[in-house]
Amino acid sequence: MSNEPVRSDPAKRGALASPASGVGEAASAIDLAAPTSMPPTPAPHRDAAARRDAATAWEGMTRAIAGLDGPIAALNLAALRYNAHDLLLRAAGTPIRIASKSIRIRAVADAVLALPGYAGILAFTLPEALWLAEHGRTDIVLGYPTVNRRALAALVADPRAAERITLMVDDLAQLDVVDAVAGPGARPPIRVAIDADASWRAPGPLGHVGVRRSPVHTPEEVVALARGILARPGFALVGLMMYEAQIAGQTDDVAGAAAENALMRWMKRRSLAELGDRRGAIVDGVRALAPLEFVNAGGTGSIETSAADPSVTEVTAGSGILGGHLFDGYAAFTPAPAAAFSLQVVRKPTADIVTILGGGWIASGPPAASRQPLPVWPAGLRTLGREGAGEVQTPLQGEAARALRVGDRVWLRHAKSGELSERVNEFHLIDGDRVVASVPSYRGEGKAFL
Ligand SMILES: Cc1ncc(COP(=O)(O)O)c(C=O)c1O
Repeated sequence: MSNEPVRSDPAKRGALASPASGVGEAASAIDLAAPTSMPPTPAPHRDAAARRDAATAWEGMTRAIAGLDGPIAALNLAALRYNAHDLLLRAAGTPIRIASKSIRIRAVADAVLALPGYAGILAFTLPEALWLAEHGRTDIVLGYPTVNRRALAALVADPRAAERITLMVDDLAQLDVVDAVAGPGARPPIRVAIDADASWRAPGPLGHVGVRRSPVHTPEEVVALARGILARPGFALVGLMMYEAQIAGQTDDVAGAAAENALMRWMKRRSLAELGDRRGAIVDGVRALAPLEFVNAGGTGSIETSAADPSVTEVTAGSGILGGHLFDGYAAFTPAPAAAFSLQVVRKPTADIVTILGGGWIASGPPAASRQPLPVWPAGLRTLGREGAGEVQTPLQGEAARALRVGDRVWLRHAKSGELSERVNEFHLIDGDRVVASVPSYRGEGKAFL
């Protein structure tokens, strides 16, 4: 292995027994197998004990990075362990494929995949999938269609990569792009899976509930596509995916939003009932034509219900590993805040406002307040409505600001999980109040895929 996913500077951090340098060492530096001491907890804002635990963690993390300068991204090892094991409990024996887009740190993906119960990666671009295959990953499903001719040329030129990577398709036009790069006689067989639409076509004014991705929705449409793929030489239909975004990606337990929470829970129940029947019919129809290796479903927000569907063979999860703050708002689970970033106070415009350097790391999705970073420590700081989190400067107001001095640090959480990795080159791995290693993000490895 040529890359060095775990870096350690023992002189500075004094904690890692021996410098690690490869993927194998990365997985052992982040040892998630140790039992977690954190019991499953309800949402922190409702539970005093959990809140106390969180406070202890932030204080330890602050001590761990004292002396380091600049923006710091950190992974709390205890929280990472808790999350990895909690997802396994929730999946109740159904294998979990990890969504790499929601992590974007190879050492973390390796460490999670080293745990029994996790198998395979749901990659987000073909260049990424090729890179992971090059680094030894053997079970990679591309979660989204690709039209990247250059990457397709690399795929068809590498029989080993073609064995390891499954493309996602929902339209024969995507097969045309592959054939335009190399016809069936000029390449190894290409593994493909069908992405079937899992959204809910609700009756009445509610209409389409879910994401706009795949055009194939009904069992007839999906079976027709499967027939179309099977009629094309040089492709092997090996899998099916149905990602129920309206269930997995929709919060249903947000503090202060009782009416909306009730509506979302009603929607999820209805959508789930419709999906169970339709997914079963789709899987039966496609299996009658091709022996599928996998039927993938779900995400962090829907593991229990996705895994409970008898036609599903594996579930996907990614965000639940790092625990972006959007995932605080679910009734069924509460991930521990495993990833966070710390920025420095550079000035104090008033006694109860501090201004930190940076902060405007806004998450993708609808441009709502929920996509802003969440200041978490010291507790009680908030962004200002008129200014928000800025490109270079972010004012934070609250009683806690009075005790903060220029040079002190504030911890924030990103709304999503993997996007933080696009902002930093490395994550410091914190155990209690020590940095025990640092691991590069994809960006830190020179890889910006999307
Ligand atoms: C195809 C697909 N599967 C699963 C997921 C769930 O990922 P996560 O667990 O990070 O929410 C997503 C997220 O958007 C997705 O696009």
